[in-house]
Amino acid sequence: MNLAVDLILKNAKVYLPEKIVEAGIAIDGERIVKVAKETNLPSASEKIDLDGLLILPGIIDVHVHLRDQELSYKEDFYSGTCAAANGGVSLVVDMPNNKPVTMDSKTLRERMELASKKVVVNTAFYSAFPENTREIKHITGVGARAFKIFLSHKVGGLNPDDENAVIDAFKEVAENGLLVAVHAEDGFLLRKKIEEISLENRDDLDAYLEVHSPEAEVNGIKRAIGLMRKSNVHVHICHVSVADGLKAILGAKSDGHPITCEITPHHLLLSEKHLRRIGSIALTNPPLRSLSDASYLRWALENNLIDIVASDHAPHAIFEKDASSIWNVSAGIAGIETMLPLMLNMVNIGQISLPTLVRSLSEKPSRIFEFKGRGRIMEGAYADLVVVDLKKEWTIDSTEFYSKAKFSPFDGWRIKGKPVKTFTNGILVMDEGEIIVKPGSGKVIGWQRGFI
Ligand code: DOR
Ligand code: ZN
Ligand code: ZN
Repeated sequence: MNLAVDLILKNAKVYLPEKIVEAGIAIDGERIVKVAKETNLPSASEKIDLDGLLILPGIIDVHVHLRDQELSYKEDFYSGTCAAANGGVSLVVDMPNNKPVTMDSKTLRERMELASKKVVVNTAFYSAFPENTREIKHITGVGARAFKIFLSHKVGGLNPDDENAVIDAFKEVAENGLLVAVHAEDGFLLRKKIEEISLENRDDLDAYLEVHSPEAEVNGIKRAIGLMRKSNVHVHICHVSVADGLKAILGAKSDGHPITCEITPHHLLLSEKHLRRIGSIALTNPPLRSLSDASYLRWALENNLIDIVASDHAPHAIFEKDASSIWNVSAGIAGIETMLPLMLNMVNIGQISLPTLVRSLSEKPSRIFEFKGRGRIMEGAYADLVVVDLKKEWTIDSTEFYSKAKFSPFDGWRIKGKPVKTFTNGILVMDEGEIIVKPGSGKVIGWQRGFI
């Protein structure tokens, strides 16, 4: 007997782990039940004809600041996850530098409960470090997917300058089987430079770039590697922006250490030149770097030396970008709606291959953060999917963003390639740029070891 499934996506190209096939996908409930030629698919209550478009695994963005709570004026769970779905992203991992900071079981639980009523795509959570290391196991129990530390300044209860306390905390995370994501700008060097510069009373962009220097990042990465060696925790370096930083990571990796890294589309495609031309809208930490750093990162991505591409979606209100002193400008770029389009465009102009795109945006994020049953299209996996039109030509216009931050350094860029449908757990969330589900249709993803 051939029982009907909920949905069939037919007349499509499907990106399977080894090859692209002309096929359809049968979805029942949250899962993919079959990938096959239409004649071999079961009957379905609903069919969508994709007219030959390509289906990729849904994008997993492991670096997203969804804000909400007291920072709702910048972004909230609903606006941020609508932005995700609009960008083809079906799972986000939320950063902890919120108000209140996500740093213990209470703040994490509150955030998860609030999110469950609002998110339209799947949402997992980072926690910052608590003051008391014993709290780490409770935070893990509540469902944090990973821990995050800023080496640049204190976020949460742990002082990042206190080497022994940090090593103890990292060991505890390792005991609990999670990873530590690191914002690797060295706080000691940042503060030394800030002191020197304030003696000179400078508040221009050059002064800012002297503080947030490539050297500060390379030192931060080297410190993170040292902490990893002493604690044996899996360290994931966020938003690598300089070639020398990546080389240090690759050195540690080749020694067999548990280290992975991520880069952002803005560090891949923009440079200091753009920052000088565009101004504070392009200001982010770490800052945009030299042309040669960006081209080295692109080369490294295509040569499988970089694990993950993540947006570092960091929305702010426009007035926070508009301060007279550079030290008062909020750093961050709202990039979740432009990440997949920019990467599709890179494929179209031959800068990267499609397997590189899928590997860095879906497969490796799923593997590294252990999202079992996601990140690849196969029978039995969750139906987290994005349908892309590789031929569609369009212009980025941030006034159309779902994010509350309606500005972007990529405004006006001509792009070839666009996500046109996003599915999360078998639900069509975004269709041709429209969000067609209610708040709360996405799932809060806790830490469920071994659970598919
Ligand atoms: O530019 C940045 N913005 N870098 C960070 O590390 C934090 C982020 C934010 O939360 O706005
Ligand atoms: Zn960061
Ligand atoms: Zn960030």
